[in-house]
Amino acid sequence: MSLRPTRHLPDGSTLAFGAAAASYQIEGATDEDGRGPSIWDTFAARPGSTRDGRDGSVACDSYHRYDEDIALVAGLGRGSWYRFSVAWSRILPEGTGRVETRGLDYYDRFVDAALAQGVQPTGTLYHWDLPQTLEDRGGWLERSTAEAFADYAMIVHERLGDRVQVWATHNEPWCAAYLGYSAGIHAPGRKEGDAGHRAAHHLNLAHGLAAARLHDAGVTDLGIALNLAPYWPETPEAAGAADELDAVRNRVWLGPLVDGAYDEGLLRVAPVLADPALVRDGDLDLVRDSVEWIGINYYTPFRPTLADPTLTVHPEVEAYPGVTPVSFVVREPRTDIGWEVDDSGLEAILLQTHERTGGVPMVITENGAACPDDTLVEGAAGEVDDQDRIDYLRDHIAATERARSAGADVRAYLVWTLLDNFEWAEGYTKTFGIVHVDPKDLTRTPKASYHWLAGHIASASS
Ligand code: NOJ
Repeated sequence: MSLRPTRHLPDGSTLAFGAAAASYQIEGATDEDGRGPSIWDTFAARPGSTRDGRDGSVACDSYHRYDEDIALVAGLGRGSWYRFSVAWSRILPEGTGRVETRGLDYYDRFVDAALAQGVQPTGTLYHWDLPQTLEDRGGWLERSTAEAFADYAMIVHERLGDRVQVWATHNEPWCAAYLGYSAGIHAPGRKEGDAGHRAAHHLNLAHGLAAARLHDAGVTDLGIALNLAPYWPETPEAAGAADELDAVRNRVWLGPLVDGAYDEGLLRVAPVLADPALVRDGDLDLVRDSVEWIGINYYTPFRPTLADPTLTVHPEVEAYPGVTPVSFVVREPRTDIGWEVDDSGLEAILLQTHERTGGVPMVITENGAACPDDTLVEGAAGEVDDQDRIDYLRDHIAATERARSAGADVRAYLVWTLLDNFEWAEGYTKTFGIVHVDPKDLTRTPKASYHWLAGHIASASS
């Protein structure tokens, strides 16, 4: 891909650090200041959709406590980054049309508070909370949603763009498309065969339409946060399946960005992506070379083997009607959410993305671990002793440094996540925070991993 200059990303001389979060997972205040309902409000209200039956209506109450959260990010070290997302339905309660200025005012206050505390805010425009009104009109299966996204992006940029220069359009569009429309385990909970592929195309189109307009308006540091993942066939027979999975998880996004096209291997498993009624002339030209950086959200590698019912069944198996049925072998150690811990997967995906893109700057927009650490250690001055998370972060930061030494242009590492929060279909049962949040009164208490990270940042920058 032809690389575009960046102006505001950290320069990469040393790795920058920070923390990431997302609107629906932390804000709460879902009925406040004119916010319209999103698909996650609707989905989470459906019995059985979240493990503990809970939703994001209160979450961490960050809508009111953002100053305290920003202070925690500032405490990680000078110039730390705070990746936040904007809730579309706070800005446009019906998804299009009427703008709710109180929603914009909130993010305005948030950004000012971050800058006042020396924290660099970086925004994500879409972290899965589609306005429900748009879903009622077909959601990501409709082209009009992509067009609405570009309008929304411009409204946010017009208000915040003087102070927030580094933006991502989507967060993990793979989840929004495939878990939302084919596997049905994320909002809007639809299980409609190849709908995931169709949603994926409209998410790509939304990105492309928004990118063109944002660049025209002067944005110079635009990215997209992808949960790219390595697929390592466990047996030689699974090599073909691994390649198909790479197509629908990774190349469905990278192909348009790098080549302006969906590749042949992808089209074999997702023939709908060759339908000219869906993928119109010019759609993918909008996506080609449309970013200055790519965000990588990495948690685990995948080891496919030909379908074996005794092994872990992953939602992906259900998500792709066109892909050879597989199971995944998951080795030890695993985090509390069952994901294998292997930092070499992060190194691999960074180097692979470096190769595929011809050296695009990257930001690790998410990396972290769910650990069974949600209780404070008695008598230890409110500490949470999450040594397992410290090990995970230390090893993945080391893997990032190895990839940098091998040439990958990684500018920043943002931990997922600042606070224990609403973990989507898992409700509040899985905690990824480096800061503990008391379920009763929402008191924030930094865990041992928070102190470790602050120490690491201090020593890395000295
Ligand atoms: C990816 C998502 O972007 C984030 O919202 C989620 O909480 C983490 N991964 C952990 O599952």
